[in-house]
Amino acid sequence: MHNPFLVANRIYMRRLEKEDLEGNYFQWLNDQTITKWMRHGAFPNSPESMNAFYENLSGSKTDIVLAIVLKEQDRHIGNIGLHSINYVFRSAEIGLIIGETDCWGKGYAAEAFSAIADYSFKKLNLNRIAAGVVDENIGSIRALEKTGYKKEGILRQAYFCDGQYHDCVNLSLLHSDWLAGRAHESI
Ligand SMILES: CC(C)(COP(=O)(O)OP(=O)(O)OC[C@H]1O[C@@H](n2cnc3c(N)ncnc32)[C@H](O)[C@@H]1OP(=O)(O)O)[C@@H](O)C(=O)NCCC(=O)NCCS
Repeated sequence: MHNPFLVANRIYMRRLEKEDLEGNYFQWLNDQTITKWMRHGAFPNSPESMNAFYENLSGSKTDIVLAIVLKEQDRHIGNIGLHSINYVFRSAEIGLIIGETDCWGKGYAAEAFSAIADYSFKKLNLNRIAAGVVDENIGSIRALEKTGYKKEGILRQAYFCDGQYHDCVNLSLLHSDWLAGRAHESI
């Protein structure tokens, strides 16, 4: 493992590094299959926008983005981020991409969501993590629900993806949900 920050079962998470911007990550954001249910992909990705994103992250206490890396091959397969972290409300928004499509459906998203929840509640002392997902992004909704996120409402026609308007499904995980989930696991 190279500079691990959060270590899970099959994956670890580390700070995003400049070299990552030149790997497959660049193309993930251009790929219309990967970005089908995302805001990305509306405009071509550029080194300038990647660099600006990267520079904005360095030293930020309100946005934390980590590379998701397979332990076995030390392969960068995606990113997970906490955004708009509010230390008064003790809340944040979560985002995730598994960019390597051969890694879909293997439980990596669920593993990363779980590790970041542990970090959010046990280290950052957050109380709430929110997610907004396109209604047809079943994989994402399922991975969040497996982690303990609960649906809390929809934003009607908030997204335009794949040729039509889609509702945004809002989900959230509270610290109390997380503790209840852990207690259930240890029974
Ligand atoms: C959607 C995405 C996050 C799912 O990640 P993943 O690592 O493949 O998800 P997991 O393997 O942890 O799957 C979690 C659950 O969802 C199910 N699932 C995953 N993809 C699915 C799909 N396309 N359709 C139906 N179910 C799916 C899995 O079977 C699993 O359920 P199970 O444990 O009951 O079998 C990933 O495909 C991705 O990053 N896509 C592109 C970017 C994106 O959409 N990001 C999310 C923006 S909010």
